[in-house]
Amino acid sequence: MSSVQSQAVSAGLTSAAIFLVVRVNEGRESCDAVRDFCADAAAFRRAVGFRDSTAQLSCVIGFGSDAWDRLFGAPRPRELHPFREIRGVHHAVSTPGDILFHIRASRMDMCFELAAQIIDRLGDAVSVVDEVHGFKYFDDRDLLGFVDGTENPEGDDAVAATLIGGEDAAFAGGSYVIVQKYLHDLGKWNAVPVEMQEKMIGRTKLSDIEQKDAEKAPYAHNVLTSIVDENGNELEILRDNMPFGDIGSGEFGTYFIGYAKSPSTTEKMLENMFVGSPPGNYDRLLDFSRAVTGTLFFVPSATFLDNVGAENPGPAPDAAASSPPSSPSANGSLAIGSLKQGDDHE
Ligand code: HEM
Repeated sequence: MSSVQSQAVSAGLTSAAIFLVVRVNEGRESCDAVRDFCADAAAFRRAVGFRDSTAQLSCVIGFGSDAWDRLFGAPRPRELHPFREIRGVHHAVSTPGDILFHIRASRMDMCFELAAQIIDRLGDAVSVVDEVHGFKYFDDRDLLGFVDGTENPEGDDAVAATLIGGEDAAFAGGSYVIVQKYLHDLGKWNAVPVEMQEKMIGRTKLSDIEQKDAEKAPYAHNVLTSIVDENGNELEILRDNMPFGDIGSGEFGTYFIGYAKSPSTTEKMLENMFVGSPPGNYDRLLDFSRAVTGTLFFVPSATFLDNVGAENPGPAPDAAASSPPSSPSANGSLAIGSLKQGDDHE
C-alpha cells in the first residue's frame, strides 16, 4: 500500500510563529512559479531547519479555494470553499488570501529566515497580503491574560481531528485550516473584573482550571466552542493561536488558527460565537475582540506537494473542471492507517 505523508499540522505550540498570507499574482507564469516551488517546499524547510535541529522548524502550506482552481484544477478537495462571512451579533469578515504559510519554531530567527527564503524564491509570482509575527507570552497566554491551547486534542486525537481519511480519499492526509486575526480592546478588557473575565472564558485566569459545567455561564467561550455531532460525539479542532502586537500603534491581538478535517466543525463553532447558541447567546469575548481577517485554506498532504508537476500536472488551460483525478492518492488505495505526520519527506 502506498503511504501518504501529511504536512506538520500537529507540530504543536512553539515560542515563535509567522503567519504569512499571500496572493498569487495574475498570469500563467505566476502559477507556474508557485507550482514549481511546491515540490521544493520540503527542501527549503530542511535547509533552514538543519541549521538548528533543536528549533523544531515546521511549515504548513495551505491554498485558498480560487487559488486551488488556478494552480491545481480538478479534482478539488470536497469541502474547499471561500471563507463564508458571518453576520450575527458580531461580524466575522471574509478576506482574500491564496496561500497560507504557517511557520513555527522555537526561535523567531528560524521562522524569519524560512519566510524570507520562500518569498525570495517566489519573487514576483506572489504579493504578501498579511504577515503576522506571533510570540509566546509567558505560559502560553493570550494577551487577554488567559492560557490558550489547554484543551487541544493531543497525539492520535489530534490526528483524528485534523486529517482527512476515507471520506475524501483523493485528499487523504490533507486538512482544512481557518485563520482569523483578532484585535483586542485591552483597555476595555482590563477594566472588567477578573471574575467576569473568567465567566466569559469558562476557566480560572491564574491557574487555568476549567469551571464546573454547572457553574459555567451559557455564553462561556468553552461552552459555545464545545460541539458534538448527531451521535453525541465531540467534534474537535486543533488550535495554535499566537499573540502578536505593536506597542507604538496600540495593536494587541490574537492570531486564531484552527485545523480540522472538515471546515464545518470550525464554522459551527464560529456560528455559535458570532450568532450565538441559541441565537443571541453569543461569545462575550467578541465585545472585546474584533476579527479583521477570515480565510479558509486547504492543506494538501506533503506527498501531494512533493508530486506537483510530476504526478499532478496542474489544470489544463481550458479543461480544468473536467480533467480526471490526478492527485497522488487518487487510486483510492489509502487508508488512514497509512498516514504519516511531519514534513521531513524527501
Ligand atoms: C480572540 C480570539 C480567541 C481567543 C483569545 C481564544 C481564547 C481561548 C482560551 C483562553 C481558551 C481556553 C483554554 C483552551 O482550552 O485553550 C479557548 C478555548 C477554546 N477555543 Fe478559543 N479563543 C479565540 C477564538 C476562538 C475561535 C475563533 C474558535 C473556533 C472557531 C475557538 C475555539 C476554541 C475551542 C474549541 C476551545 C476549547 C474548548 C474546550 O473544549 O474547553 N477559539 N480559547
